Amino acid sequence: MANVTVVDHPLIQHKLTIMRDKETSIAGFRRLLREIAHLMCYEVTRDLELEMIPIETPMAHMDSPAIKGKKLVFASILRAGNGLLDGMLDLVPAARVAHIGIYRDHETLQPVEYYFKAPSNLEDRLIIVVDPMLATANSSIAAIDNLKKRGANNLRFLCLLAAPEGIAKFSAAHPDVPIFTAAIDSHLNEKGYIVPGLGDAGDRMYGTK
Ligand code: PRP
Ligand code: URA
Repeated sequence: MANVTVVDHPLIQHKLTIMRDKETSIAGFRRLLREIAHLMCYEVTRDLELEMIPIETPMAHMDSPAIKGKKLVFASILRAGNGLLDGMLDLVPAARVAHIGIYRDHETLQPVEYYFKAPSNLEDRLIIVVDPMLATANSSIAAIDNLKKRGANNLRFLCLLAAPEGIAKFSAAHPDVPIFTAAIDSHLNEKGYIVPGLGDAGDRMYGTK
């Protein structure tokens, strides 16, 4: 049984509808992705570890809870992951960041890896991997394979849209990694695109084609 949480808050669903619309501008698409990242960040970090830190209020000294931000890594699968990353960093500015350069070959749908840079000591950190699209799951599986090879053992995957085929494949490859998504769509088409989906997330974010 796949470990999937559908974060279906009305604000997320409303913003996602606008993102799906092919008439939505590049600027609008980017802004909405960042806003949805704020809302989804709330859910994916719900059980984050806190530490007590000493502060002085205007009235008294107190020990008050704070997120152990330095233990947290956001891992962005380039390019489109950066849209979610920006919103996540708005809320957790102390988080460390991993960049994982992967695109999928348009013919074979196999992942092509071209860049990897991550903080050290991954074995001690919670890593939230972000990419708006979970289609065949080839890219996200490769990204997580790579992180695990370097010691990561506590991971979550955050996306905007997932295909049932991708969820099944991802969960078989990485049953220990929970998936958080805003929606599960109908299916993949013959070219591996999510239907109804929103098209190519990277192209819509950056105006490429
Ligand atoms: C998109 C998306 C995911 C991948 C999902 O990236 O951002 O990384 O496709 O598809 P999959 O689940 O079938 O692997 P893309 O390959 O278009 O890379 P790009 O944005 O860098 O061009
Ligand atoms: N990547 C995208 O950007 N969109 C899809 O529908 C599938 C993969």
